[in-house]
Amino acid sequence: AGHYDVCIAGAGLSGAVLAERYASQLGHKVLVVEKRAHIGGNCFDYIDKDTGVRVSQYGAHLFHTYFDDVWDYVQKFGPWTPYEHKVRGIVNGKDVPIPVNIETVNILFDLNIQSQEEMDEWLKKEQIPNDNPQNSEEVALSRVGKRLYELIFKPYTFKQWNKYPVELGPEVLQRIPVRNNWDERYFSDPHQALPTNGYTSLFENMFKSQHITVLTNTDYFQIRDKVSCGKHYFSGPIDAYFAEQKLPKLEYRSLEFERKVEENTQFFQQAFVVNHPQDNDDYTRIVEYKHLYNQSHLPHTVYFIERSKDGGEPYYPVPNKRNKDLFKQYQNLAKKEEKTKNVSFVGRLANYKYFNMDQAINNALELFTKDTGIAYTMSSLPV
Ligand code: FAD
Ligand code: NA
Repeated sequence: AGHYDVCIAGAGLSGAVLAERYASQLGHKVLVVEKRAHIGGNCFDYIDKDTGVRVSQYGAHLFHTYFDDVWDYVQKFGPWTPYEHKVRGIVNGKDVPIPVNIETVNILFDLNIQSQEEMDEWLKKEQIPNDNPQNSEEVALSRVGKRLYELIFKPYTFKQWNKYPVELGPEVLQRIPVRNNWDERYFSDPHQALPTNGYTSLFENMFKSQHITVLTNTDYFQIRDKVSCGKHYFSGPIDAYFAEQKLPKLEYRSLEFERKVEENTQFFQQAFVVNHPQDNDDYTRIVEYKHLYNQSHLPHTVYFIERSKDGGEPYYPVPNKRNKDLFKQYQNLAKKEEKTKNVSFVGRLANYKYFNMDQAINNALELFTKDTGIAYTMSSLPV
């Protein structure tokens, strides 16, 4: 009960940025309600009980951004440790860098490519040009050719989506990163780091203001009629908000994490993330968090085998025509609701879009500016 200037559904990044901005920039009284038992949304991490290793509950999260103001913004909530993400893959039993670079191709095809020019030449011979690809198979063939496609991209896409690339729109594999150099970094963004004390601690600091009240284990739909709010933000699934409208549900792909502990073992695998693109096993990758945050001295290790599935937590919007058309219908409902109920929709679930963390932050900062007229000002501190 009581009156709040702003009520926010969801204590993930989108909700946290808005809460923090309203409290710090306007001194507004903010209520954040979160359905889950914890803050942080899908960025939530915690200390594994048996091993003492910091792990992420909803999959590996690497922060990377091109946005200088987003990078500036996240500095306010705790220290960051530079970290450049690298991924390995097991392909035909060989341990190779992912994304594909010169070393990957040399190992897989027993070549001795030594320069960017040679790599470009090799790629050009492999590629099957296509000016107007109609599906993800045609895109992939035009980018990497048949051999890499069959070895890596086709089976991996099937494991991720339970559909072959030929059945998926061109956008799914449009951004396959292929390197014509030796760069082993997974991301190319200028800012790449991990929050030194973990993501959850970052959220605790974002919610620290005395103006912000956070209620976990609380469903927004259960409390919205019981509190008075000047303005609402909803960062949950848009189809859940409009559940009474009898439109079909939007489809999502989800992930399942199988936890395994190895006692008295420094590391189970050679890298933080190892991909398993081929179909000789049923998982997509294995994540061993002990590789992060200087935890190598701990006596035991824990790792998570990752499999894609339908149902469960909504993770990846399924990009097909049905869902795009359906989302447009939900968007129209949202527009009406914004006008009549003073509610704004924000975040990856309300936009039915995969956002990286920096995009989620950027969008929430922009929405705050749009709704209040207060622009983000970069700190004068050196970053
Ligand atoms: P969420 O984090 O999903 O937060 C929404 C919150 O709303 C949730 O906590 C939910 O419980 C709550 N909620 C929903 N309905 C209700 C309701 N009715 N009442 C109350 N609360 C409700 N990004 C990167 O930049 N780098 C990465 O490496 C990376 N890895 C990822 C790996 C996986 C497996 C996934 C799924 C995402 C990854 N992301 C990564 C993306 C990142 O998780 C998102 O950008 C970020 O979580 C978006 O924040 P959000 O607040 O919009 O959504
Ligand atoms: Na608080």
